[in-house]
Amino acid sequence: MTNTITLAVEKAERKISRHIYGHFAEHLGHCIYGGIFVGEGSPIPNTRGIRNDVVSALKKIRIPNLRWPGGCFADEYHWQDGIGPAQARPKMVNTNWGGFSEDNSFGTHEFLDLCALLGCEPYICGNVGSGTVRELSQWVEYVNSGAQSPMTELRAHNGRQEPWKTRYWGIGNESWGCGGNMRAEYYADNFRRYAVYARNYPDARLYRIACGPSEGDYHWTETLMARAGGLMDGLSLHYYTVPGTWLEKGAAADFDTAAWYETLLKAFFMEELVTRHSAVMDKHDPQKRVGLVVDEWGTWFRAEPGSTPGFLFQQSTLRDALVAGLSLNIFNNHADRVHMANIAQTVNVLQALIHTEGEKMLLTPTYHVFDMYQVHQGALLIPAQTLCAGFEQNGRAAPLVSVSASLDGEGRVHISLCNIDAEAPQPVTVDIDLGGRTRLSGTILTGDAINSRNTYDEPSRVAPAPFRGAALAKGGLTLTLPPRSVVVLEAA
Ligand code: AHR
Repeated sequence: MTNTITLAVEKAERKISRHIYGHFAEHLGHCIYGGIFVGEGSPIPNTRGIRNDVVSALKKIRIPNLRWPGGCFADEYHWQDGIGPAQARPKMVNTNWGGFSEDNSFGTHEFLDLCALLGCEPYICGNVGSGTVRELSQWVEYVNSGAQSPMTELRAHNGRQEPWKTRYWGIGNESWGCGGNMRAEYYADNFRRYAVYARNYPDARLYRIACGPSEGDYHWTETLMARAGGLMDGLSLHYYTVPGTWLEKGAAADFDTAAWYETLLKAFFMEELVTRHSAVMDKHDPQKRVGLVVDEWGTWFRAEPGSTPGFLFQQSTLRDALVAGLSLNIFNNHADRVHMANIAQTVNVLQALIHTEGEKMLLTPTYHVFDMYQVHQGALLIPAQTLCAGFEQNGRAAPLVSVSASLDGEGRVHISLCNIDAEAPQPVTVDIDLGGRTRLSGTILTGDAINSRNTYDEPSRVAPAPFRGAALAKGGLTLTLPPRSVVVLEAA
């Protein structure tokens, strides 16, 4: 069948938050240490210890925000251990991620320096699980206050006179699990208390993000919205795409077509999660003031054989690119409620955008999707209706073609499409009034196999290339999407 997509350019009103294209870097494996931070003495080119190559790559995709220091790590992290002279900082055991010693050489100043180099907004996740209200309150004061106090004097003593004025603060992470194993009711009360003492300072009004549900825990969302909705700006959602089971996860690079479809079906479940959690939020917040913040999403496969198990290093293939394209289309299409999303994680961990090995750096297929999709950042969502072929597995179904579209500030239309079909091309008709836009161009990301990937020897095996398969037609466009591809079209 021909897939039909109808795009209503005249109804493009809702802004796609650029923060949907956000990232997450935890003290886990080689994400921070080695992947981002190598220390000033390293032979790897760096600025105050931060890798220059990684910074340039992330700037190129206009990284809008970075979430830190975790993840589960956040609820064991005591921020005062990560300030002051690096050699005097106490070490700690990173109990969540392999039990290795963390030397705290990357702390608040280094993280905020990294965000300044990237030109992105910091998103700091506070410790609720094993911390105190006072500890989080003082962290916010240390980072954001311009008035004289012991905290701001300590900051100045550590080399930073001016407050950073960080807006995004998470009040705990996965408080239903690694962040304290709390019940929704208990956490809701805790959130209320912590949120009060995480103060606003002049020109530094906080965007407070409450710990939201795991996957389909609608009771958690209902409880948080009913008991604390008025005090939060965002509510998080965590969902990972895990083929197989949590105990026996599928492999990242060595997989068959059945695992391809299983993975993409599971990725598509994000549509149901966002829709249903939004519906619960709508009951309490019909004005849609509170954002759904999907601050952990992406694929989670079995760790690569030979890698350190607690480091969550996995290869990244074309399949990950399709998961990214599909997920970002879902977030764009729910721009009314999804204010932010953060893929897990930026470098060397889970669905990473970047891999490093010593001084070498590699861009994964997922990186290229973020590069191609950056045209949607801050643009107006064009509502889409689709009538597409589908696929099924174990009684679950999903469409084979995924789409989102936007109108940018210069009047250009961008349409991002994914063809999930592993083997067959998909013909597509796009019904759209393009007005006077007659210049059509496109970019495609695909590969010769479902598990095509980049390696240090062949770093551009999966890389964007010009796409010339679309044509203007009466009433819009026609195109044929090659199998297993992500395509972004521009009409100007
Ligand atoms: O991203 C890895 C881990 O997954 C995070 O630390 C935690 O929040 C989630 O369970």
